[in-house]
Amino acid sequence: MRVRLFAKDDLHAILGLQEKCPEAARWTEGDYKRLAEDAGGKILVAELETMDPPKLLGFAAFHRVLDEVELRNMAVDPEHREQGIGKALLEDARDRLLKVGAKRVFLEVRASNKPALSL
Ligand SMILES: CC(C)(COP(=O)(O)OP(=O)(O)OC[C@H]1O[C@@H](n2cnc3c(N)ncnc32)[C@H](O)[C@@H]1OP(=O)(O)O)[C@@H](O)C(=O)NCCC(=O)NCCS
Repeated sequence: MRVRLFAKDDLHAILGLQEKCPEAARWTEGDYKRLAEDAGGKILVAELETMDPPKLLGFAAFHRVLDEVELRNMAVDPEHREQGIGKALLEDARDRLLKVGAKRVFLEVRASNKPALSL
């Protein structure tokens, strides 16, 4: 599994994954495109690169203003959860965001969303 930056070709797979994850925010194609083009936006994807074509396993979408970052949307494929993919996405994001001056990351989740709270 590897984590890399989002590319426009990922949109179809991200929207498909979002459909499988009702707890994720319901975003349109435009929402992802706008965030990817925003100077403060960063979207990471996790993929199984040993498959042909690689299978999208998860994504995490961030928006940074100065030293504060909001984790705006995130999901891992239900068939691949609790294998460290969510953590790998956050660790990769932490490394990238620290380099551009981020100090705090916020995530708003429902109190009932135990997996997200654990993460
Ligand atoms: C939240 C979510 C992204 C976690 O992804 P994941 O790949 O399963 O997470 P990981 O395997 O990396 O686990 C990270 C930590 O959370 C814990 N965790 C994950 N799922 C859990 C669950 N169902 N119950 C309890 N703890 C859980 C793991 O034990 C791990 O803790 P550790 O580091 O102490 O071992 C995933 O459950 C998901 O896609 N949920 C639906 C969408 C969502 O809620 N998004 C967040 C709001 S935008």
